[in-house]
Amino acid sequence: MTLAEQFTALDTLLFSTRRYWQCTAFDFDHFPWPELSVAVDSLSDAQVAELDSNQAALYDFFDSYIPVLKQLPALCHLESKKAARITYPFWISNGIKGRKLEQLQDFTSALNSNDTPVLEWCAGKGHLGRMLAFNGAAHVHSIELQQTLCEQGQKSAKQQGLAMQFSQADVLSDPVSDFFKPQLHAVALHACGALHQRFMEHASNAGTKQISLSPCCYHLFTPNHYQALSMQAKNSVLALTHRDLKLALQETVTAPTRVAKMRNIEVEWRLGFDALRKSVTGSQRYVSVPSISKAIFSDSFKAFCTWAAGEKKLEIPHSIDYSEFLLEGQMRRKVTDRVELVRHVFRRAIEIWLVLDRALYLQERGYKVTVKTFCEKQLTPRNILIQASLTSQTA
Ligand SMILES: C[S@@+](CC[C@H](N)C(=O)[O-])C[C@H]1O[C@@H](n2cnc3c(N)ncnc32)[C@H](O)[C@@H]1O
Repeated sequence: MTLAEQFTALDTLLFSTRRYWQCTAFDFDHFPWPELSVAVDSLSDAQVAELDSNQAALYDFFDSYIPVLKQLPALCHLESKKAARITYPFWISNGIKGRKLEQLQDFTSALNSNDTPVLEWCAGKGHLGRMLAFNGAAHVHSIELQQTLCEQGQKSAKQQGLAMQFSQADVLSDPVSDFFKPQLHAVALHACGALHQRFMEHASNAGTKQISLSPCCYHLFTPNHYQALSMQAKNSVLALTHRDLKLALQETVTAPTRVAKMRNIEVEWRLGFDALRKSVTGSQRYVSVPSISKAIFSDSFKAFCTWAAGEKKLEIPHSIDYSEFLLEGQMRRKVTDRVELVRHVFRRAIEIWLVLDRALYLQERGYKVTVKTFCEKQLTPRNILIQASLTSQTA
């Protein structure tokens, strides 16, 4: 299947199933899909959490109720990189913590490094750039917003005798197009939303011969209504918004039990307060309350409601029965988790749709493009690598 065919098939599937994912879980007081109730009602909270952490099991669980899901595993399948993990001497890996180091090792081994000069976009301290310089890149130019990170990165590169130069720049507002040249390998690891979109635009405008990126946080620095990049995605009728783009990020590595428990309390209290507010005001709409230090969730539900009422300028009558609303919050949390479970069936599909939009955009601009995963999901769920090259035929 070509990237274009994969995109069309995913687009059609996502459109036909949009009522299951293009929604906000907090809006529902009751589970909204009767055809899925039998399956979902039988699940304990622990089973919901277990299914939620296993995408293949999630497809299996729902595909007898939503038959089109049988196609999803194949449509979301990406080739994984074959190269063995590169190891680096301690002086290169020093200061890079845990999973981040393994991500970088896998990312650099997937890149087919050579001596082409590198432009590193949204570089942070330039760990990736230092690795590519170590692997033989003739020169690395790292662009980063934060001056302190540029200074730290420059210092390490100097100490390590690596041919590397940092430029401090805001890539969304500073004039950065001149950084891109044809004879470059432009790399962007986990540059958020518009940051990687601008990267692709500048690199392809300049005819940069090699482009490699792993996108993340698709919604950041972009308008709420998704602006497609490729012609094919521009013709899609999905009309994605930030809410849908955030769904693509919801494949997480399972939280420890204590964190999951705290999160349940937080959601129950927020939904309990929402029920109380609706009862006092007569409104039917869900209204969110700002985030606050987690310490408040070790206090009482009543204390939380008093704080939230202050935020929302709501007067709570003295006669209110807090236990009734806490119970309502607990029931609605169960509904919310089950609605989210159904939405999560589609999270990877949406991410792949977004990635294919990027890949097709580069294809339309004359690049030969591949899309694959560069590491296991456990290292980072944002594990997709888009590689684009201009060959002598395509240049
Ligand atoms: C998620 S980090 C990725 C860092 C590095 N590429 C890596 O994977 O380790 C994103 C980086 O983008 C930088 N950044 C954010 N907004 C930026 C902007 N407008 N211009 C340039 N860099 C920016 C941040 O300071 C941060 O260092």
